[in-house]
Amino acid sequence: MTYNYMNYSSKIAFPSGVVDYIFLPKDGLKKSSVEELAVSYDKQHIVIITDDHIAALYEPLFKGYKTLVVPALESAKDLHTIGTLCRQLLDLEAGRNTLLIGVGGGVVTDVTGFVASVYMRGIAFGFVPTTLLGMVDAAIGGKNGVNLGLTKNLIGTITQPKFILYDTGFLQTLPNVEWSNGFAEIIKCASIFDAGLFDELAAQNISFYKHDDHALLALIEKSAAWKNNTVIADEKETGVRKLLNFGHTAAHAIENMYELPHGKAVAIGMVIACMVSEEVAGLSAADTERLKKLLQQYHLPVSLSINAAKAMEILRMDKKRKDDLIDYIVLERIGHGAIRSLPFNVVEKALEAYASHN
Ligand SMILES: NC(=O)c1ccc[n+]([C@@H]2O[C@H](COP(=O)([O-])OP(=O)(O)OC[C@H]3O[C@@H](n4cnc5c(N)ncnc54)[C@H](O)[C@@H]3O)[C@@H](O)[C@H]2O)c1
Ligand SMILES: [Zn+2]
Repeated sequence: MTYNYMNYSSKIAFPSGVVDYIFLPKDGLKKSSVEELAVSYDKQHIVIITDDHIAALYEPLFKGYKTLVVPALESAKDLHTIGTLCRQLLDLEAGRNTLLIGVGGGVVTDVTGFVASVYMRGIAFGFVPTTLLGMVDAAIGGKNGVNLGLTKNLIGTITQPKFILYDTGFLQTLPNVEWSNGFAEIIKCASIFDAGLFDELAAQNISFYKHDDHALLALIEKSAAWKNNTVIADEKETGVRKLLNFGHTAAHAIENMYELPHGKAVAIGMVIACMVSEEVAGLSAADTERLKKLLQQYHLPVSLSINAAKAMEILRMDKKRKDDLIDYIVLERIGHGAIRSLPFNVVEKALEAYASHN
């Protein structure tokens, strides 16, 4: 594989496959007119999937490539879109030698990974994440899920991409609100694994990382490394990978119901998880306050008026639920997450308590 503008690349071995992490210098992809995308594949055999927003913003990038466009909406992450894409691939005569490349945020990479995993029982795919959230989280780890109604990521596969291509130049056009959404996952990572990273984040703000390329890249690499290492240890999520779900149980219950961006839902989910953690895992009220303060510093919400009964209905479909118990991620202290099998009604009570205070 050769990349004209490559800074460096490293191969990470997951149980189900090796992923090439390719870090281009900022704007490398734009400057080289996507030649890097050709990888070792014939351009003829590449199909790009992106969303309508990125397709318009980065039009020249897609010139000369077969490109399929999905709506830039969470609601497009569903089986209908998967069916449409499969039919479009068939129309393009895509076959086993086709490489699918998802260029976009988590919606695009989830959909691309899912389609690639099922089309003709699986074809090769790679990702070019264009959001901060995608770079630190969604593009990593091989989970490719789509929603069923309001239930998040109910249907999916775990299949690793061949490569993930990083170009932080994309973040120059990323709206502020999407920067915040990306920081929700970075703050999650710091909360469960890395008290030092939590302190670094507390000492900085979004503007600092926006203007310091070196610090931003280091932050992306550190967050990506936490996720990589966790997935290498437990790709199928039978143990330690569950920690990455901190804040996600409640988030998944409210995200689609209130049409919240994923990062905002996770921020609120983390606050609810802190309430549970104070009760069952000895988290101090001071640590809950530190996390709330950090979320607000990165322009993330800590309160939302929610309908607890409706949220519970969705929560009952949660993949982490086993009869009357649920695998729930708590914090014992900042930088130290833990998995607890909790009676479902503990989570129910926390949701009710949260709903009555907001
Ligand atoms: N597979 C996983 O492990 C995993 C992990 C975390 C999140 N996710 C999923 O990822 C999704 C959230 O991802 P997301 O936050 O990237 O959202 P997204 O894909 O919806 O993108 C958010 C918005 O930003 C726009 N955008 C993307 N790149 C841009 C750029 N460079 N400049 C300007 N605008 C740009 C998009 O068009 C969209 O409007 C959710 O569906 C979530 O469930 C998956
Ligand atoms: Zn998430």
